[in-house]
Amino acid sequence: MARLMVLIVAVVLVFLMAAPMPGVTAKKYTVGDNKFWNPNINYTIWAQGKHFYLDDWLYFVFDRNQHNILEVNKTDYESCIADHPIRNWTRGAGRDVVTLNETKHYYLLDGKGGCYGGMKLAVRVDKLPPPPKSAPIKNIGSVSMVTGFAQFMLPVAVFSVSSVWDMILRMW
Ligand SMILES: *[C@@H]1O[C@H](CO)[C@@H](O)[C@H](O)[C@H]1NC(C)=O
Ligand SMILES: *[C@@H]1O[C@H](CO)[C@@H](O)[C@H](O)[C@H]1NC(C)=O
Ligand SMILES: *[C@@H]1O[C@H](CO)[C@@H](O)[C@H](O)[C@H]1NC(C)=O
Ligand SMILES: *[C@@H]1O[C@H](CO)[C@@H](O)[C@H](O)[C@H]1NC(C)=O
Repeated sequence: MARLMVLIVAVVLVFLMAAPMPGVTAKKYTVGDNKFWNPNINYTIWAQGKHFYLDDWLYFVFDRNQHNILEVNKTDYESCIADHPIRNWTRGAGRDVVTLNETKHYYLLDGKGGCYGGMKLAVRVDKLPPPPKSAPIKNIGSVSMVTGFAQFMLPVAVFSVSSVWDMILRMW
């Protein structure tokens, strides 16, 4: 019984180590943060300093009777013309997700009010840069914490697996 337990522990440890590290995952942005998709918010300022990468999402929350979310081309964006959208991202619930799955500029606006109160947003989407070889110390995000923890734990885990293995062999 004890042998079996040890064996199970060893197997679990090996599986834990083999589990893929969480990579840098796509980010979800709530447009306008806690003010959402509403008039009189400068979305150019909202987007400032944000870097959008492939497969990030924009999440729009708004009053479905007042607003919508259309993608237009650059010319139409600049003049707030919603008559020939490239894409209608509105599904009807006032909760819409724009998946940034293409590396391009997305020009989005409120088509119901023709950018009413400045409701327009342009974002440039870039390819995710390759992850750095070692996680930078200053980036204490949850991902790098996990990576850092794993890096720290790896030798410990290897050690414990080999000693557990030793034990198994000895007990056998
Ligand atoms: C945007 O679409 C309008 C209307 O279809 C067109 O006149 C204009 O040339 C287009 N602009 C760009 C940059 O494609
Ligand atoms: C966009 O799609 C929604 C949901 O299908 C529809 O209700 C709405 O009329 C469409 N808007 C435009 C401008 O095409
Ligand atoms: C991006 O996502 C949209 C909506 O889900 C889809 O229609 C489009 O084909 C996708 N584009 C690419 C390049 O995968
Ligand atoms: C939003 O802010 C940008 C950058 O400060 C400015 O250029 C733009 O005119 C503003 N837009 C509106 C509608 O106020």
